[in-house]
Amino acid sequence: MTSPVGDALLNDGAPLSPRGGRVWSRRGVLASTLALGACGQKAQSAPPGVASWPLKAVARFPVGTCVQAAQLDDPAFASLVAAEVSQLTPEWELKMEYVLQPDGGYRFDAPDRIATFAADHGMRVFGHTLVWYAQRPAFFERLAGDAAAFRNAFSAYVTAVVGRYKGRIVGWDVVNEQVGDDGSGWRTSLWSQALGPLDHMRIAYDLAHAADPAAALFLNDYNLESDPAKRADFLRLAEALLKAGAPLHGLGSQTHVAADLAPGAVAAAIRDLAGLGLKVRISEMDVSLARARGLVNTRADLERRQAALYAEAAEAFAALPPAQRFDFTFWGLEDSQSWLKREDEADAPLLFDDSGRPKPAVAAWEAALRR
Ligand code: G3I
Repeated sequence: MTSPVGDALLNDGAPLSPRGGRVWSRRGVLASTLALGACGQKAQSAPPGVASWPLKAVARFPVGTCVQAAQLDDPAFASLVAAEVSQLTPEWELKMEYVLQPDGGYRFDAPDRIATFAADHGMRVFGHTLVWYAQRPAFFERLAGDAAAFRNAFSAYVTAVVGRYKGRIVGWDVVNEQVGDDGSGWRTSLWSQALGPLDHMRIAYDLAHAADPAAALFLNDYNLESDPAKRADFLRLAEALLKAGAPLHGLGSQTHVAADLAPGAVAAAIRDLAGLGLKVRISEMDVSLARARGLVNTRADLERRQAALYAEAAEAFAALPPAQRFDFTFWGLEDSQSWLKREDEADAPLLFDDSGRPKPAVAAWEAALRR
């Protein structure tokens, strides 16, 4: 089921493009514009004749995006999400900073909204994230001196959050960004100081597995493409967790990269992560133009490099054994929604422009999956 807007676009009898993709016909664009105009939303248009398949129709694995609950109230964006992807990750509303209240209570209104939208559209949901050094909620800060109380509250939180979505969330980033960027190995955090450098992670995996035995449990990190030393530390952490008996099922590479990343780095990271035989996720991909400081190129050159990096990731991920391809998730669909816009408003890191129109990176990503 798609929204009326989606139906207008997808069921307008538009001719198939030579590649068999959906051609955004003038009638379809007009119907969608009228439908959107009726509900006061921005026109969802694309240049006529632009051939584009839904991302999930081309991939032989789940394709996802991060979302915020309020974004789903925009019919045009909801239609784009419903048409393009098969999995949703709450961008921040399933983290402690949203769920855990100052008094120790929990709120789930936003992740529930996302889970309901996903269920209504036959999509999977991925849980992000349980243990992250960057989250230091006051409630746990206050317990730091009482080991038993801290442990009990930590256990209660992980059990409650994972248990609430049992059977509805297919996997979790149990531990996020545990490896330091400077070769210093594992980060210290509120969690590691209270529960132990390895134990805080092993406990979290055990609790998550007990709360939802069917959920795939992941270790997630960033800069694994641009920093081979960090990637090696990351893989050593994964091995240590496995050796400690943690129910670790998969590895996620966030893949927040810049357009000046050397060709081949993304593919090398994906191959290395697959080397342990666990499931693999591209968990948060975007390709920053603004962060491409190594290049003094035209915008067109940067966009060509961006498209090539998306294609490289697609090709390398598709080359993995099917059993290891858990999902390929973009950290947003439309440029206007990217977290990177906070750094540089001119950045355009995603696959669709601010009006939801597919950029050249879409065709490149899809062509790579057809190779
Ligand atoms: O929506 C509220 C707004 O109502 C409120 O006025 C405002 C000020 O408090 O906060 C807004 O929420 C912010 C939210 O982003 C939506 O913009 C949160 O404070 C802010 O913490 C949150 O930032 C998220 C960040 O993780 C921290 O959770 C970003 O959206 C999200 O893109 C970013 O994602 C991370 C991954 O989890 C891990 N990998 C890196 C990635 C990028 O940093």
